[in-house]
Amino acid sequence: MAVRIGLLGLGTVGTGTAKILLDPAERHPLVKDIEIVRVGVRSLDKPRQVEIPVEQLTTDLESIVTDPDVDAVVEVMGGLEPARSLILKAIDHGKHVVTANKAVIARYGNEIFTAANEAGVYVLLEAAVGGGIPVIQPLKQALGVNRIHAVIGIVNGTTNYILTRMQREGGDFEPILADAQRLGYAEADPSADVDGLDAADKIAILASLAFGGRIKLSEVYAEGIRNVTAADIAYANRLGFVIKLLAIARRDTSLISQDPLEQLQIRVHPTLVPENHPLASVNEVYNAILVEGDPIGQVMFFGPGAGSGPTASAVVSDLINLAANLKSQSSPRGEAKVANPLLACSHQHYCKVSPMADIVSRFYVRLLARDEPGVIGKLGTCFGNHDVSLESVVQIGMRDNCSEIVIVSHEVKEANFQTALDELRGTTAIDSIASVLRVL
Ligand code: NAP
Ligand code: HSE
Repeated sequence: MAVRIGLLGLGTVGTGTAKILLDPAERHPLVKDIEIVRVGVRSLDKPRQVEIPVEQLTTDLESIVTDPDVDAVVEVMGGLEPARSLILKAIDHGKHVVTANKAVIARYGNEIFTAANEAGVYVLLEAAVGGGIPVIQPLKQALGVNRIHAVIGIVNGTTNYILTRMQREGGDFEPILADAQRLGYAEADPSADVDGLDAADKIAILASLAFGGRIKLSEVYAEGIRNVTAADIAYANRLGFVIKLLAIARRDTSLISQDPLEQLQIRVHPTLVPENHPLASVNEVYNAILVEGDPIGQVMFFGPGAGSGPTASAVVSDLINLAANLKSQSSPRGEAKVANPLLACSHQHYCKVSPMADIVSRFYVRLLARDEPGVIGKLGTCFGNHDVSLESVVQIGMRDNCSEIVIVSHEVKEANFQTALDELRGTTAIDSIASVLRVL
């Protein structure tokens, strides 16, 4: 019995998905059991890179999600609306859903999974994080027996491409972003990528799976790469680091009064990564996700985080999972039943996410100080007054008639560090604080 699917979208990911499904030779035998029956698009006249019978194409996407001949809906149209409403309507009509839409899942996952559990259907999302990298299913299944401590990822290809080029060419952010847009690596409106919002959506999804609870996106700290300069990349290199946009989710064990099994840190920010760390050598548009758990230790997933073929590979992997489950179910078509707890979403509570002020990390600071006696002493005193212990203080040279000083701290509570910086900003000896970055 074939699984009949309705595709919502025939763009980059939809086209890649159709190409795999229409060419099943030498793939898993279940691929040929998945049949495209309807395809929803915005424009019927657009030339397509895959042959879809014209009678299957429609601009009426609602007719697909309510069609009794459709068993599963593949949402690869993107955006928040109407994608969210169509997913909910599909669920309401007893259809399983496969989606690549991290923005919808990170914002409306609670509503969608509650509806799916009530309707007894699966919502699968391998393509939503890491493009072609299988990471969602491993977190749900193979790694699920571990107590996960941390998930740390480079999950945005656009920013990794820009940072890689800044690193290699010694260039600044703005001209390299403009070039990346010209070459088609960055979108015309790059904000979701460069401001860390896309990575925040993705780490919220990964954290939810790794730590077995829902995540409020508003509690995920997101800082992008717009303020990373060529100077910081060069100084970080001299200190043995590369700068990467990391998405970090980890159990927060620093708050002794709280239950460490419940309390999480979830954050996205440019980070100094030691150059011998496994994530330091992940370059260009590639993604990688490092998972640390007990007893497995460290596992890293690496691969293409976007693109038509890779992302479609993840979509179709969900579809064959669905096909396998539907085949092994005895209930006739139409009586949707969620039978496999390794595919369904079972958690319902929200995780507690620590405020950034409580996070403990190391910091890198570059500042410009007036060239006068006792400046280094004043810095040390101010940091010391706020329990900030310094690992290194290096006077790099002169810039704009000021001494340029780079400081790396030991681990310190964010609130203490920021208070010390505020105090320094009001000190006449300090001209400006040029950059502040966290260190892994
Ligand atoms: P895309 O190339 O822009 O394609 C979107 C498709 O959806 C198009 O076929 C478009 O129709 C159709 N569509 C959009 N809004 C519609 C509406 N209101 N009514 C009818 N049809 C509509 O997008 P994509 O790059 O494939 O991305 C799809 C999803 O996958 C997004 O959620 C994205 O975040 C996710 N994703 C993408 C990648 C990637 O590498 N591209 C990687 C991972 C995840 P027309 O063709 O007629 O315009
Ligand atoms: N804009 C995303 C990125 C696409 O650059 O990683 C894949 O989700």
